[in-house]
Amino acid sequence: METVYLNDKFVAADQAQVSVFDRGFLFGDSVYEVIPFYQGQGFRLDEHLARLEHSLRGIQISIARDWKAILTELVAKNGGGNLSVYLQISRGSSGQRSHAYDEQMQPTVFACCNPIRDIYDEGPDSIAGISAIVTADLRWHRCDIKATGLLPNILVMQQARQAGATEALMIRDGLLTEGASCNLFMVDKGVIYTPKRSSEILGGTTRELILELAAVNGIPTQEVDIDYDHLMNADEVWISSSTRAVVPVIKIDDQLIADGKKGPLWARMFELFTRYQRDLMQGGV
Ligand code: PDD
Repeated sequence: METVYLNDKFVAADQAQVSVFDRGFLFGDSVYEVIPFYQGQGFRLDEHLARLEHSLRGIQISIARDWKAILTELVAKNGGGNLSVYLQISRGSSGQRSHAYDEQMQPTVFACCNPIRDIYDEGPDSIAGISAIVTADLRWHRCDIKATGLLPNILVMQQARQAGATEALMIRDGLLTEGASCNLFMVDKGVIYTPKRSSEILGGTTRELILELAAVNGIPTQEVDIDYDHLMNADEVWISSSTRAVVPVIKIDDQLIADGKKGPLWARMFELFTRYQRDLMQGGV
C-alpha cells in the first residue's frame, strides 16, 4: 500500500481522510507543487520550494515546515527511485462552508507519490513527438500561482483529447501563453523563443532550466510575445514540465510543424537536459 503524508503524519493511502468542509475541496482554496525525484533525490527542489512559497504568499497561507525533509522521507517510504511528489496545501477546514475565512485556520497538507520516467535512461528515441491544439485561455490572471483550481486546464485538455491530440496550447488576446500543464517553446532560425514570464503563465522550473542550459551553451533565447502565425511557422515547437522534461510538438491544429519531425535543437536540448540531470543526481543535491 502506498504511503501518503497528511497533516504531519505518514499514513497508508486508504487511511488518509480529509474533512468534506476542507476549503481545498469546496473552493479550490489551495496550491500545489509537482516535484520529480530521481534515485530518491529531489530535482531542482529549491526552485520548486521557492515557487511553493510564492504560491502560498499569493493566497496568503502562512505555514512553515521542513519540506525537503518531509518529501525526501515520503519518497523513501515509497521505495525511493524515480517518483514525482504531489504536494497540496489547502487553507484548511472551519467545519462549515463560508467564502470568508478565519486567518488562524490550520492548513491541510497532503503529499503523495507517482511513478515517473527517467528519460536519461530511456534516451531520445523513446520520446515521441506529440500533437496539440490551440484553444482559448479562459483562466484567471494569476497563473503564476500554482493553484489547484484547474477547471479551465482540464476542459482544454479534454478538448485536445477529443480532437485526437495530446496537449492543449492556450492563447489569450492573440498571444500564446502555455499548455494545459506545461510551458511552451518554439525555435525559429536557431533562436529559442518562449512567452515572457508574467502572471499569465506559470514560472515553470523546467522552463527556467532550459533557458539556463541554453545560456551556458551559447544557444540564443528570447522571452517574447508569440502569436499564432509565428508558432505555426516555427522550425520546432516544444513543451516542458517537471514530469515530461522537454517534448517536441510535431503537429498543431492538424498542421505539421516544419517537416513534422523531432528537430535538431530539441535533440541538443534533450541531451543537455539529461546530462545535467545525471550530473546533478550523481553529485547529490
Ligand atoms: N504542471 N504550466 C502549467 C500550467 C503547469 O501546470 C506546469 C506543470 C508547468 C510546468 O512547470 P514545471 O516545469 O515547474 O513542472 C507550466 C505539473 C507538472 C502538473 O500540474 O502536474
